Amino acid sequence: MCGIVGYVGERQACPVIIKGLHRLEYRGYDSAGVAVMHPGGGMDVFKCKGKVSDLEHFLEGKDSAGTIGIGHTRWATHGVPNDANAHPHLSRSGKLALIHNGIIENFRVLRDALRTHGFTFRSSTDSEVLVNLIEYVRESEKCSLEEAVRVALKQVVGAYAIAVIEEGNTSRIIAARKSSPMAIGLGDGEYFLSSDAASIIDYTQDFVYLNDEELAVIEKGKPLHIMNLDGKDTPVSIQKLNLSISQLEKGGFDHFMLKEIHEQPETLEDCIRGRVIPETLEIVLSGVIENKEKFLAARRIIFVACGTSWHAALIGEHLIENMCRIPVEVEYASEFRYRNPVIFPDDIVIAVSQSGETADTLAAVELARKAGAFVYGICNVVGSSIARSTDSGTYIHVGPEIGVASTKAFTGQVTVMTMLALLVGRLRGTVEEGYYHRVAQALLELPATMREALKTADQVAALAKTFTYAHNFIYLGRGYNYPTALEGALKLKEISYIHAEGLPAAEMKHGSIALIDAEMPTVAIATLDRTYEKTLSNIEEIKSRGGKIIAVVSKGDDLVRHCADYCIEVPSTVECLMPLVSIVPLQLLAYYIATYKGRNVDQPRNLAKSVTVE
Ligand code: G6P
Repeated sequence: MCGIVGYVGERQACPVIIKGLHRLEYRGYDSAGVAVMHPGGGMDVFKCKGKVSDLEHFLEGKDSAGTIGIGHTRWATHGVPNDANAHPHLSRSGKLALIHNGIIENFRVLRDALRTHGFTFRSSTDSEVLVNLIEYVRESEKCSLEEAVRVALKQVVGAYAIAVIEEGNTSRIIAARKSSPMAIGLGDGEYFLSSDAASIIDYTQDFVYLNDEELAVIEKGKPLHIMNLDGKDTPVSIQKLNLSISQLEKGGFDHFMLKEIHEQPETLEDCIRGRVIPETLEIVLSGVIENKEKFLAARRIIFVACGTSWHAALIGEHLIENMCRIPVEVEYASEFRYRNPVIFPDDIVIAVSQSGETADTLAAVELARKAGAFVYGICNVVGSSIARSTDSGTYIHVGPEIGVASTKAFTGQVTVMTMLALLVGRLRGTVEEGYYHRVAQALLELPATMREALKTADQVAALAKTFTYAHNFIYLGRGYNYPTALEGALKLKEISYIHAEGLPAAEMKHGSIALIDAEMPTVAIATLDRTYEKTLSNIEEIKSRGGKIIAVVSKGDDLVRHCADYCIEVPSTVECLMPLVSIVPLQLLAYYIATYKGRNVDQPRNLAKSVTVE
């Protein structure tokens, strides 16, 4: 949540920052701002409510020249989205400007203490408290800016990624992080700073990722200097980010979400490449193979995740229990971390997170590690906090996901879980060879199957028009497709703002059936699987109560047509991979309903893609 960008070098800082902020808007988009230092050393802050494009308009005709600056796009935590609460925040004297991503939990105590020293505050943010605390330390201890930042951060409880500049110093940015990401891009005599390295990939591929409680002194023309909060120097490790700029663009689609839905055949191909060997159907996941003993001895697997990743984990539960015969629990990371859970040293905790930065999932990882469990990560963003804090893991390799509603990450996560379950099942001898071969072969065919599933797009687009009137929706599925129903409902909620509820189809009878009438459409996943007949009965029950039904059915299946109002045919594959196919029309349905309703699909209200606060 919140995106931060910084620049120091020979270029004009403002255009670099604005471009970076546009790429970070997925992290928050309720206000934006920039602080630049003019060549003579005077500093100006420009900020306003709204999106980065509003900030661009605001900057028109203003003097924003300068080769050092910091910028921010906000997802409000403390204080409503308005001009005053937008970042950067200035200190009392106006000499320090700060941008912040995260939450300072003890900001009230700090604010009250600062008030006793005569400080007043213009905004309701915790971030303004921090910049003033830094100034207070700087003035009272007469120390350097980096020392003031270090001492101030020692008093902070909470999460932060910050960047600070000081009037008069045209070559230096101080940055620090704890539980919020921060990457420093290294150029030729220049430095870039961002919450997400991908946002500044136009300028460099060499990055240093700050670790928790590290502080960086970033000075034009000088080597990068990193220290911990005790003031001890820490090593600078440079990593390459291999990403092409085209992966960050819409590629001819109207929205990132539509592009990301349509690129799933390719992203799954990337996810599977080198991991399912076509000639032998062998599965190669080095994270599992190198830790074979742990998987052989596992007493239990606990998934921790949030949002869409939690839905993927529910499918993972089916996969692992079926193929590995290991009991599995699926936990909301936010509940798990505060529940005093029972964790055994021979448990494996699998953290699932697209961004690898979700605060609750990260905290669950730390808890599990402290309890002595082996912690495995399934992440998309390479080098992310969760990827770095787990013992081992598998990247899903689906490329940057920019639309706030997760699509290709979900299918990538389920694909990795399928490979993991097959491999562990084979190692443990719990998966029957014939079944193993069928699933491994189906994985290789998955890109083609997804291409086929995407052919439903036109039909779904037409259908979506019919349903823009609806205020509520029910989604039903069973077995492997129960989590698909939850995920379909979440997609619709997130981007169309229509209330939607996902249910196990049979559970409908225990209450929610009371909601059924002609105004309540139901999306039922009724593909040919072991619960097909049962789902058909559930559909009949809705029909006989006057409900409208959209059914996702297997290609060529005519039976459901007799009771459903609309049928969307999807290709068949092995049952355990059906969620990947069934979710495609549900992603498309949410997308088209939302666009017909005029919603901002890529940046829906109130949401952020990367939830780095609790
Ligand atoms: C946010 C996003 C969701 C995402 C969830 C978990 O709520 O809007 O799309 O599923 O966070 O994110 P993660 O990066 O941990 O998968």
